[in-house]
Amino acid sequence: MKTIYYTASSLDGFIADPDNSLSWLLSRDIDQEGPMSYPTFRATVGAAALGATTYQWILDNDPDGWEYTMPSWVFTHRSFAPQEGITFTTDDVRDVHAAMSEAADGKDVWLIGGGDLVGQFADAGLLDEVWVQYAPVTLGGGAPLLPRRIELRLEEHARNREFLCARYAVSSPA
Ligand SMILES: NC(=O)c1ccc[n+]([C@@H]2O[C@H](COP(=O)([O-])OP(=O)(O)OC[C@H]3O[C@@H](n4cnc5c(N)ncnc54)[C@H](OP(=O)(O)O)[C@@H]3O)[C@@H](O)[C@H]2O)c1
Repeated sequence: MKTIYYTASSLDGFIADPDNSLSWLLSRDIDQEGPMSYPTFRATVGAAALGATTYQWILDNDPDGWEYTMPSWVFTHRSFAPQEGITFTTDDVRDVHAAMSEAADGKDVWLIGGGDLVGQFADAGLLDEVWVQYAPVTLGGGAPLLPRRIELRLEEHARNREFLCARYAVSSPA
């Protein structure tokens, strides 16, 4: 079981633009059956965690709303409507990670983002890999990919149409 941050980023390291938009990403060409694609990754995942802003973005922008079937934890101090399969939490990432690992039942744990939440897992020594799909664009600002200093080792890379896809292992926390 691995704990993986799988995300897409601009070349200058932002996962959302300054307006909290993903239009720079969702308009691009990627082969969903190609290397390091989301469906391939998704099949390995048994539990997920995300921050409140990412969850709100999904509620606001995804026509299907919350459609994930895996047990998920949303870190937040806000009041969201109850959602089947989601635990809203302010608990320590260590406690949540233990619950996620149990729920994942041998499959991987997916940290959806944002970057600082992933950093909190990394601070606790609970991040194993970072997978990034780099879109061919710079944004100049926005939500940061992973605002920490973390040593990584490049394990795999591939081109998937417009995207440079990279898989890194966490070497050690700074
Ligand atoms: N490019 C991609 O593939 C990709 C992937 C993921 C996300 N995104 C986008 O990137 C943006 C991410 O935004 P972000 O980095 O600002 O935010 P985020 O992690 O999604 O949400 C941040 C919020 O999560 C809550 N939070 C974080 N840590 C917490 C903790 N330990 N305990 C309790 N609550 C905690 C806080 O919300 P409260 O206000 O509730 O305290 C905080 O303001 C979103 O627009 C999202 O849609 C893009």
